[in-house]
Amino acid sequence: MKILITGANGQLGQEVSRLIPDASRPGRNEMDMADPGAVGRTLDEIQPDLIFNCAAMTDVDGCEKDRNSAYMINSVSPSVIAQYCIKTGARVVHFSTDYVFDGTRGMYTEEDAPDPVNYYGLSKILGDFAVIPLSNSLIIRTSGVFGEKMNFPLFVYTSLRDGKEINAIESSYSPVNAANLARASVEVERKGLSGILNIAGDRISRYEMALGIARFFGMDESLVRKGNKIPGGIARRPFDSSLDISRATKLLDWDFHSLESNISRLDVH
Ligand SMILES: NC(=O)c1ccc[n+]([C@@H]2O[C@H](COP(=O)([O-])OP(=O)(O)OC[C@H]3O[C@@H](n4cnc5c(N)ncnc54)[C@H](OP(=O)(O)O)[C@@H]3O)[C@@H](O)[C@H]2O)c1
Repeated sequence: MKILITGANGQLGQEVSRLIPDASRPGRNEMDMADPGAVGRTLDEIQPDLIFNCAAMTDVDGCEKDRNSAYMINSVSPSVIAQYCIKTGARVVHFSTDYVFDGTRGMYTEEDAPDPVNYYGLSKILGDFAVIPLSNSLIIRTSGVFGEKMNFPLFVYTSLRDGKEINAIESSYSPVNAANLARASVEVERKGLSGILNIAGDRISRYEMALGIARFFGMDESLVRKGNKIPGGIARRPFDSSLDISRATKLLDWDFHSLESNISRLDVH
């Protein structure tokens, strides 16, 4: 079976690539997701039977500023992948985000109606809509992915290690380590699942997360201050975008979700 991974250099794509080392991994120069025509041509050339679509424009403020690129990468190119799957019978595992929700309530289930508050969320839900009608596609909705690039947990770790104070707000989400997310995603794909599935960490506020990191690595908790406003960004952020992961926890018999399991894999070297 031919497997293709998009976004193989991203946080999630790298981890999926580790688990499926013989997959094709076209880079931006061969399969630019901002150019839907190139996406179609590359798929027709490689003819994969299974696609892990890990590529996305994930810079939330960047999506707000450059809506055209966000639309092409997050909405139109996933629809080209979906068209390829309809044409050939191939399967796609597509990744979605907690930012499709407005964040007023939290603990969103797979059935909850999306209502994004920023262009990133809108562009991602448009991509989901293209994939949802495929009967054997799988959409994995996740939150706060942290892997090898600079991210909030790594920022907390390096700041506290260097004795710097940090402000962390009480907005909640469901952060997950990219390695746990990749393993869980590959496992549920192999179970033949279709539809939408939330795979993420346990609900936590960014403040609690920062304290958890301080405790786990034996660093000074008093350096963690409660921030009261979302740091300046162009795009609005959902306040509580946490996901209900009860369906995934029933399907998988290992701990992909606890804070400890996820921060123990924090890439601190
Ligand atoms: N990060 C999060 O907190 C988060 C939260 C919820 C959901 N998600 C979803 O989870 C998935 C994986 O996210 P991630 O954190 O792994 O993202 P990431 O680290 O930002 O990686 C994104 C990947 O997409 C590639 N990409 C971007 N624009 C491209 C283009 N025009 N053509 C080809 N490739 C392009 C990047 O390529 P380069 O390496 O060349 O830049 C990179 O490999 C995405 O669907 C994202 O929406 C992420």
